[in-house]
Amino acid sequence: MDQNSVSNDQARFDQIIDAEEKIEPRDWMPEKYRLNLIRQISQHAHSEVVGQLPEGNWIGRAPTLRRKATLLAKVQDEAGHGLYLYSAAETLGESREKMMDDLLSGKAKYATIFNYPTLTWADVGAIGWLVDGAAIVNQISLCQTSYGPYARAMVRICKEESFHMRQGFEIMQVLSNGSHTQKSMAQDALNRWWWPTLMMFGPHDSDSAHSQQSMKWKIKRQSNDELRQKFVDQTVEQAKHLGLKIPDKDLRWNSEQGHYEFGPIDWDEFQRVVKGGGLCNRDRLCARRRADEEGGWVRDALIAYEEKRCVRDKGEAA
Ligand code: 3HC
Repeated sequence: MDQNSVSNDQARFDQIIDAEEKIEPRDWMPEKYRLNLIRQISQHAHSEVVGQLPEGNWIGRAPTLRRKATLLAKVQDEAGHGLYLYSAAETLGESREKMMDDLLSGKAKYATIFNYPTLTWADVGAIGWLVDGAAIVNQISLCQTSYGPYARAMVRICKEESFHMRQGFEIMQVLSNGSHTQKSMAQDALNRWWWPTLMMFGPHDSDSAHSQQSMKWKIKRQSNDELRQKFVDQTVEQAKHLGLKIPDKDLRWNSEQGHYEFGPIDWDEFQRVVKGGGLCNRDRLCARRRADEEGGWVRDALIAYEEKRCVRDKGEAA
């Protein structure tokens, strides 16, 4: 492609981004923009699919039929979120097979939060309240992302996330207003999930490898620290409503800034879990590999059916 036409394409791309319009699959885009999106969207999709596992552990142990039905619906939603996002990544030319291979081989990243164990029923509440609450803060921002299919997937996902967060908060509310044992369970879950949830927003802006470019391309609309701060400010108030204590001795309201100051995040733990050293990394990958093996016959049957249907349709058309 000659230099002149590339600069015209680049100018058109820049114009769309500056005008707050969406880049669509057929539009010219810088190769690095495409690769950055494939990286982020595929990791997002992996997070949704692996994210089913911690809560899936409690579907058979839910305390009531209503809790079981609600949790089942939530976990099923997450599978759908993964499918929307894998489909969005496929519009960028990345194959589903490659993304699956990257996940199952351990090469691909997914959110570290899903490598923590769910020890009690209160963890299901904490995940809905905190993890989905954090995901909502991040994903509402992503509704404004510059890549059309990703932005549209986010709109649908955010609607379902609000149900996820509310059901989690309600579980924490019932436990916090329950017996001493139940309230202790809720506090214990908050103690274990609070800091890994803050890590969901990524490294501090100064340590973020992609933020600067991602914000130039309007893939990312707010920085990691901005979104983390927004989550802390809203969630501390919710914890007060529950009568639960945020496990951070440095937490204090800064009236001048209008924000909560909070303590240091353990980035060594974050890096350890990113590199596979979390309590459940191995289990999560084994579960995904087992599901992939056990589901192989379904994929084969669907492919065989589709091939047969195409042959039949061709025969009828001839
Ligand atoms: N877990 C694992 N890796 C993480 C991470 C986390 N919580 N946060 C950041 N990283 C990785 C990044 O992927 C990047 O590694 P890479 O270069 O190998 O991809 C590295 O750390 C540096 O981080 P950056 O801030 O430079 O990376 P990004 O600009 O991509 O920002 C992000 C990170 C904010 C997570 C961004 O990727 C994003 O917004 N992703 C979409 C949202 C998402 O993936 N959420 C995951 C949870 S989904 C969920 O909770 C669903 C709910 O329904 C259960």
